[in-house]
Amino acid sequence: MTTLTINTIINRKHYELEIKPNLTLLSLLREELGLTGTKCGCEIGECGACTVLMNGHAVNSCLVLAPQIDGQEILTVEGLADGNRLHPLQESFLDHDAVHCGFCTPGMLMSAKELIDQNPNSTEEEIRTALSGNLCRCSGYQQIVDAVQHHAVTPRKG
Ligand code: FES
Ligand code: FES
Repeated sequence: MTTLTINTIINRKHYELEIKPNLTLLSLLREELGLTGTKCGCEIGECGACTVLMNGHAVNSCLVLAPQIDGQEILTVEGLADGNRLHPLQESFLDHDAVHCGFCTPGMLMSAKELIDQNPNSTEEEIRTALSGNLCRCSGYQQIVDAVQHHAVTPRKG
């Protein structure tokens, strides 16, 4: 199969990549770049475990072909923290016990990030709508919604 060259920014780092045209963004992240924080659940756009931000908007990376990120900017859960400082959403998930098995967490965080970047004071209803494409098999929805709603008032550690 022929390959394509793409240029992209992932987690603020520039990449020039040689890829197969049928590679998904999810496979590129996990298998080619070792960014396994993004999870693979259903691979058909149903579970939201693979959610990343593309130019600031949440996408299911299992439904995006890698060639589509040429010239685009991707943010994965690995890029959320600022060095050793967790993102306020990550702190809030910890403080609200919103992480159980953790499988849905990266996708939840990325969907929540798109929301709070647009509206940091979202209502519970807006949060539930924004996270409606992300499934949690541990059913920890209330803690997750609380964590997103109160992320700005979570006391910083250390
Ligand atoms: S793995 Fe992409 S939506 Fe489930
Ligand atoms: S914490 Fe287990 S799937 Fe959500």
